[in-house]
Amino acid sequence: MKTVAVIGTQWGDEGKGKIVDLLAQDADVVVRFQGGNNAAHTLVVDGATFILRLVPAGALYPSKVCVIGPGMVVDPVALLQEIDELQRKANFRANGRLKLSYDAHMVMPYHRAIDRAREARLGKQAIGTTGFGIGPAYEDKVARCGLRFSELADFPSFERKLRRNLLEKNRYLKLVLKAKPVAVGGLIEQMREVRRRLLPHLCDTAGYLADARERGQRVLFEGAHGTMLDIDYGTYPFVTSSTCVSSAVFTGGGLPCGALDAVLGIAKAYTTRVGAGPFPTEIKTRLADQLRAKGAEYGSATHRPRRVGWFDAVLTRRAMRLNGASILALTKLDVLTGIDPVKICVAYTVKGARKTDVPYSMMRLDQVQPVYEELPGWQEALSDKRELSQLPRNARRYLERLCELSGAKLVMVGVGASREQIIVLENPFLS
Ligand code: GDP
Ligand code: IMO
Ligand code: MG
Repeated sequence: MKTVAVIGTQWGDEGKGKIVDLLAQDADVVVRFQGGNNAAHTLVVDGATFILRLVPAGALYPSKVCVIGPGMVVDPVALLQEIDELQRKANFRANGRLKLSYDAHMVMPYHRAIDRAREARLGKQAIGTTGFGIGPAYEDKVARCGLRFSELADFPSFERKLRRNLLEKNRYLKLVLKAKPVAVGGLIEQMREVRRRLLPHLCDTAGYLADARERGQRVLFEGAHGTMLDIDYGTYPFVTSSTCVSSAVFTGGGLPCGALDAVLGIAKAYTTRVGAGPFPTEIKTRLADQLRAKGAEYGSATHRPRRVGWFDAVLTRRAMRLNGASILALTKLDVLTGIDPVKICVAYTVKGARKTDVPYSMMRLDQVQPVYEELPGWQEALSDKRELSQLPRNARRYLERLCELSGAKLVMVGVGASREQIIVLENPFLS
């Protein structure tokens, strides 16, 4: 028995999907525990690309159980579409393998409408959300008027609550946000279909995981987004609406406290961010376009161009400590080939003073100046490398320095998007 969590240490899109897909080989159960379809995790296997939004990234192995925990907010229609697409493209059989928590909350069309209307009203101050209704769905959960999957069992009662919510949300949309209300027509029938298809998947997922662990099974927790998008520890208000750090495994995943054996932090060899908010190491020159093109840095969920910057060791060190992570998987090292020199942010200056930690408020990140260390680059392509010793000396030096500054032990290095394009130094399930 072993439990491992994979957590993003930056602003998301670190390559969690690829690492979870790889580790899922050695796990029995893969669990998503927070967020919703604002996540987009890319898997490239045998030349085919899969983008998973709600279904855990164990889906491509026929025998792994995929769990959607109570900490998630799930758009049921998007989930059905994802299941159908996975079935078409990867012969995914959801029956018996996909377990959906009774207690997960549903994202409804009015959540999306509110999310989008608020962003539109904010104009230049907008957060840059994905527009998938994640924030408003979590608001309703905390306000205790959200709809949980368990409520589908008693459809008349579910329908009453849905109509009540719709009435209230439509008033808010019309009168406060000056936006179009959401039509009820079709929604009730759609939810009937959701009920028919999803009821067989509903499960007490915490109980299921406890049983699985008692049977000696290995459980892999798949974080979504990233530490800097965490509702408490991120760059608030430019964050997502859930807890993204490893402690969410206990609340949102149903694992008892202390039962996590290892936390694997994931970082890109540089940094990206989608949406607004402070980003100290952001590159504003043409080099950003070059990196964006080489690293295909366009949001997998919304196709927006990602902002690109240098590796920020100050933030990564903070993230590793917050998550209780000592081991690190570094992805996309191959993208830095040909960039010379490469820079690492080793400290900030704040009002002239040098700091190696973050200012007391993460929002103050827009007032810091990064202090860079420059290292010589390398020219060799890395995509066919499978051993650390095969990497150019300067690439190894970059990795060593980056890990030293981040307080991390390097266990994996990504050298391409495909499942096999990785150097594995240590597998947390096997070590
Ligand atoms: P996630 O949200 O953390 O799962 O990351 P995304 O899938 O949104 O974004 C990561 C992108 O980088 C995807 O397009 C991956 O296919 C790709 N990727 C992952 N690891 C590597 C790597 O080591 N090298 C390269 N070139 N691409 C990678
Ligand atoms: P994965 O799991 C990158 C960002 C959005 C926006 C902010 C709030 O693929 O790494 P939201 O719709 O969540 O209310 O938007 O959070 N964001 C992500 N950025 N990767 C993600 O997920 C993200 N999930 C949310 O761009 O800035
Ligand atoms: Mg992503």
